Amino acid sequence: MTSILFLGVSGQIGGAFITAFREKYLDIPVTFYLRSTELDSVLHDLGNTTIIHGTFDQLDEIERLASSHPFVFNFAASMNVPVTEAIIRGVRTRKVQTGATSVVYHLSGAGNFVDNSKSGDYIPTNHRFDDANPDDVRTVSAANLPNGPCDELLFAAASTGEAKVYFVCPGGTYGHSHRHVGRSVGSASAFAPGRWVDYMTQNTEALGFGAYVGSGTSVFGVVHVDDIVSLAMLVYQKILDTVDSYKPEDVYHYWYNGVSSEEPSKKIAAAFAKLQARRGKITSPETKSVAYEDAGFTARYIAGNMLIECNNSISLGWRPQGPDLYTTLEQLE
Ligand SMILES: NC(=O)c1ccc[n+]([C@@H]2O[C@H](COP(=O)([O-])OP(=O)(O)OC[C@H]3O[C@@H](n4cnc5c(N)ncnc54)[C@H](OP(=O)(O)O)[C@@H]3O)[C@@H](O)[C@H]2O)c1
Repeated sequence: MTSILFLGVSGQIGGAFITAFREKYLDIPVTFYLRSTELDSVLHDLGNTTIIHGTFDQLDEIERLASSHPFVFNFAASMNVPVTEAIIRGVRTRKVQTGATSVVYHLSGAGNFVDNSKSGDYIPTNHRFDDANPDDVRTVSAANLPNGPCDELLFAAASTGEAKVYFVCPGGTYGHSHRHVGRSVGSASAFAPGRWVDYMTQNTEALGFGAYVGSGTSVFGVVHVDDIVSLAMLVYQKILDTVDSYKPEDVYHYWYNGVSSEEPSKKIAAAFAKLQARRGKITSPETKSVAYEDAGFTARYIAGNMLIECNNSISLGWRPQGPDLYTTLEQLE
């Protein structure tokens, strides 16, 4: 019987995904590994679930759990190398003990593909990273920050036949999902805005204004959380359809970008300034063009361009539905 070890169920994406997943796959046993306890009752009510509390510092426990589940969903730690290494060690142990190759379903992140320009200008490219081109996927390495170090380890594990790895690679994710598993118990995580929105609101608050660099025409790729959930469900179906015939080389065919629109950084800055002014976190919805060095800790995402294609995702039938970033930010409390 298949079973899943799931990391990240209390996150913005994982908590929304699990609702859709459980609706479609009623009986698959799922072990949730998480540190908070507030979701315990709703996770228990999903049926066929085991809850294990722990943190990402408990690497032996993660390794042990990975070694006893044929599927590991990492919807939590795209930048955490020790966690990825622990998962791979567990998968390796399971292969030695059972002869079976486990599936690792991993959320990476499209921050990997920001062009590192510091100008804040739109800089076109004649070659966008295309998820449907295995030669493009082959270029992903530890140099693609911030998620590449984990991705590289997983490519190595897949290409040596140690694991069957599938990737979803979200852009800056926004929105609360109405279907987050923690909503019914008022869990804070169900209403958390997600990492990118969190980074941008913090940066705007710290600076006291909405920052862009240079002309502010550089673009960043974004996506609504529910659209990442729909993509992740399509990729899970792809896993089911391909897992039995998976060959090591296939890993370069199973990378799925999730970006639904490219937004100019000046417009993003204005939206976050408006949000933070409305919340009383800054005094006015002012925006300013600043030097890269003065754009705060999200400068790389503000000044650079993320120019990628989602052709592999589209080939699965993925059609993002929104709502768009600006409507969503206006609705945030
Ligand atoms: N949101 C984005 O814009 C975006 C874009 C690209 C890629 N990603 C990647 O996609 C994945 C999911 O993103 P998300 O936005 O859903 O993340 P999130 O809302 O920040 O959730 C992160 C999850 O990781 C858990 N976690 C974090 N540190 C932990 C620790 N030390 N020990 C145990 N659990 C820990 C959290 O548990 P607690 O509830 O206990 O904190 C939560 O379940 C992440 O790997 C992220 O890097 C996200």
